[in-house]
Amino acid sequence: ATERTLSIIKPDAVAKNAIGEIIARFEKAGLNVVAAKMVHLSEEKAGGFYAEHKERPFFKDLVGFMTSGPVVVQVLEGEGAIAKNRDLMGATNPKEAAPGTIRADFAETIDANAVHGSDSPESAEREISYFFGNDEICPR
Ligand code: CMP
Repeated sequence: ATERTLSIIKPDAVAKNAIGEIIARFEKAGLNVVAAKMVHLSEEKAGGFYAEHKERPFFKDLVGFMTSGPVVVQVLEGEGAIAKNRDLMGATNPKEAAPGTIRADFAETIDANAVHGSDSPESAEREISYFFGNDEICPR
């Protein structure tokens, strides 16, 4: 089925000028960008986004990293978009990410891991509406 997923190009990948190369991978895999914006997240916005990790030991570092520079937030649309994006990203820890995945090619550490992607239809719905109003999404 056609799905939508939320993708974030994180501060490390933006700082490396890898925005275009990462989006090209999505497009070449048949995912359409139907919304996109660059934002420098506040602590409140980043903390709310990652609220499910609030009690985890890495939460403070995660929020610190995600507010360290601008990010590019996008909605990707396509057949099986959620799983397809996760395949393209590779494992959360770049050291475990399969060769040829975005994290293997662009990421250094588990915190600075280049990209975020929704992990389920429920989180995709929540994450998309956290960043975009319906009038900011352009179905194609
Ligand atoms: P992301 O997919 O954005 O979701 C939560 C982020 O927390 C994850 O990518 C990692 O960048 C970061 N993180 C740091 N440490 C861990 C950990 N031990 N397990 C999972 N995520 C972690």
